[in-house]
Amino acid sequence: MAIKIGSLTLNSRVYVPPMAGVTDIVYRSVVRLVDPNCLMSTEMVSSRALMHQKDTRLMDLDTAEHPIGIQIFGHEPDVMAQAAARAQAKGADFVDINMGCPVPKITKGKDGCALMKEPDLARDIIREVRQAISIPLSVKFRLGWDDNSRNAVEFGRMVEEAGGDAVTVHGRTRSQFYSGQADWHAIGEVKKALSVPVFGNGDVFDPTDAARLLEITGADGVAVARGSLGNPWLIPRITKFIDTGILDDAPNDIDKLITAYVHCINLIAYKGERVGTNESRKHMINYTKGIHKSASFRNRLTQITTALEAHEVLSELALQTEGKEGLERFLRGTENPNYFTYSENVGQRYRDGGKHFHIPVQANFAVAT
Ligand SMILES: Cc1cc2nc3c(=O)[nH]c(=O)nc-3n(C[C@H](O)[C@H](O)[C@H](O)COP(=O)(O)O)c2cc1C
Repeated sequence: MAIKIGSLTLNSRVYVPPMAGVTDIVYRSVVRLVDPNCLMSTEMVSSRALMHQKDTRLMDLDTAEHPIGIQIFGHEPDVMAQAAARAQAKGADFVDINMGCPVPKITKGKDGCALMKEPDLARDIIREVRQAISIPLSVKFRLGWDDNSRNAVEFGRMVEEAGGDAVTVHGRTRSQFYSGQADWHAIGEVKKALSVPVFGNGDVFDPTDAARLLEITGADGVAVARGSLGNPWLIPRITKFIDTGILDDAPNDIDKLITAYVHCINLIAYKGERVGTNESRKHMINYTKGIHKSASFRNRLTQITTALEAHEVLSELALQTEGKEGLERFLRGTENPNYFTYSENVGQRYRDGGKHFHIPVQANFAVAT
């Protein structure tokens, strides 16, 4: 059965939830190359910062990317309502409110997971946001603040009653941060108590994990964050496995290297060479994890400053991994890189940024051989 978040009907049960510093427009484009239907969200956006900012790239959406949510955080109902209205105006399919972030910088100002300790304030926020937008609204939270105050079931009921159309529940408390195991049974308790769709979240790194999470929690969908890092293929592999029981192979190493490069140059096209290469290092490191004898290449990737250097390191790794054939396949795959097309309003700004951007891939062939 298709999941419905308010008026939004989803064609997939898999959600790539917000990851600050990760799920930007480029990351999402890479995931959509391999799984066009999954649900995705932007990184979290500060509602307070939006009061002073005319625009933020965190809210950039491509007209082609749907379904997409914009996640906002904050604790002032009126400020959150204004931020939600901005998100709707930006073209989001839904707004997600962050009530799960454990980071002290966020929680000390009553934002993120701190709101689980203030359910009345959380309710006010949800109600005001609900009134400010006509698109669906979801809330993402954890099991509670700590083991002595696990309140995810009551909190979920409150969200539903206040006008939330869906929830995502990370099966850990705030005090756990990322330690221990996500408690999928506890997510199941929330699912049992609610009638809006529930996305179960935490520790899905493999299609079989996703199937087990869905079975144990009874959740409508599964949210996969860290598992998708350097591994966008996990998303379609999960979709296929939960829909058909067929387990597709993990991608080949050369495909990972090609995608690492595509990710890198699109980040550069979007953010400029300095910021783009800088930000792409962590992604390229993630793509190369697990490739045999790749540690020294990862060291080099931490230092790259241009697309050409990235291409050089990845070419050499392709050569080491699958010999001359692997290298040739890598070069063919990166010769006409798959540039993403951004929507007019987003593209306009970045086409300029990418104007002087040119990678002499052929010249690089000689370096790599
Ligand atoms: C680098 C990183 C950034 C994250 N940023 C956000 C965020 O902005 N908003 C949010 O609600 N959750 C954020 N999360 C939490 C994830 O969405 C997810 O709930 C958590 O990682 C557990 O899921 P996983 O086990 O599939 O990774 C972040 C997680 C990571 C690893």
